[in-house]
Amino acid sequence: MSIKKDALAGKLAVVTGASSGIGASTGVQLAKLGFKVGLVARRKEKLDQIASEINRDGGQAVVIPADLSVVANYDLLYRSILENYGPIDILINNAGFGWYGYFADMPLSTLEEMLQVNLQAAIRLTRLVLPDMCKRNSGHIIHIGSIAGNFPNQGVALYSATKSFLDAFNTALYRELRTSNVHTSIVNAGPVHTEFFQSALNRPAGRAIPAERWGIFPDQVARRIVKLIHHPRRRIFVPGWLAITPWVELFAGWLPDLLGPLLLKSGSEKNMSD
Ligand SMILES: NC(=O)c1ccc[n+]([C@@H]2O[C@H](COP(=O)([O-])OP(=O)(O)OC[C@H]3O[C@@H](n4cnc5c(N)ncnc54)[C@H](OP(=O)(O)O)[C@@H]3O)[C@@H](O)[C@H]2O)c1
Repeated sequence: MSIKKDALAGKLAVVTGASSGIGASTGVQLAKLGFKVGLVARRKEKLDQIASEINRDGGQAVVIPADLSVVANYDLLYRSILENYGPIDILINNAGFGWYGYFADMPLSTLEEMLQVNLQAAIRLTRLVLPDMCKRNSGHIIHIGSIAGNFPNQGVALYSATKSFLDAFNTALYRELRTSNVHTSIVNAGPVHTEFFQSALNRPAGRAIPAERWGIFPDQVARRIVKLIHHPRRRIFVPGWLAITPWVELFAGWLPDLLGPLLLKSGSEKNMSD
């Protein structure tokens, strides 16, 4: 079953982390489908640029600047969306960032920020939108996870844990909502060419995440998200062949157990300014 643009016209899709990468591409793709798109992130000038491209091409986008590392902002954000644009039909919990290095070296400020942005924002926003979706028996919440959540590796301890958490959270929610018309999904992506890698490297005591060279492009992930909206599923992997990841962890997890310390030790060190 494919969804016609008309059926979606005026429906509201809110994308967090929409100022770059996967979130920006997803905003553009959803606007092409006919959604009114709410673009959330901190960098207003980037959001303005993406919104004006969408509006110029005949779509509808609104810019909603918010810092999701501040818990008090979640409720304000939700209320302001509700008052100004109406109920949320699709929520894409995409905002997030990575950090690579020994967990013992992770600055506490980065640790706190990661828990807020990668986890708290997704959980709290889900808790805010879900009652209304259940009341209307309509809606879809999509979390952007990572294969790191299924195959945790050296250097990304907390990042992997935030994505594993989202995976478990999504599975339980999916099972709660299975018989309703409210959907919840997670998109576990492999490496994607975005600002993610530079942003991790720029962080205090951060090192280069060694997977960028195998990355796909963000519009490939966005197209899979569009498909997911058409055909809701509990969990997808992008690219699809990465569905082997949980099996790799199960049957070959001993390999990174052995090699992890060596790989992390030999990884490039940079930016020890904190
Ligand atoms: N790239 C990959 O290889 C990869 C692989 C698997 C999963 N993912 C996941 O995909 C998601 C998107 O990442 P990306 O690859 O597209 O990287 P990106 O280009 O760096 O995008 C990250 C987005 O998150 C936003 N963000 C970060 N901190 C925020 C905060 N405090 N408040 C509000 N928004 C914030 C950023 O906006 P502002 O800076 O403007 O606030 C930006 O729009 C993340 O959840 C990431 O974990 C990425």
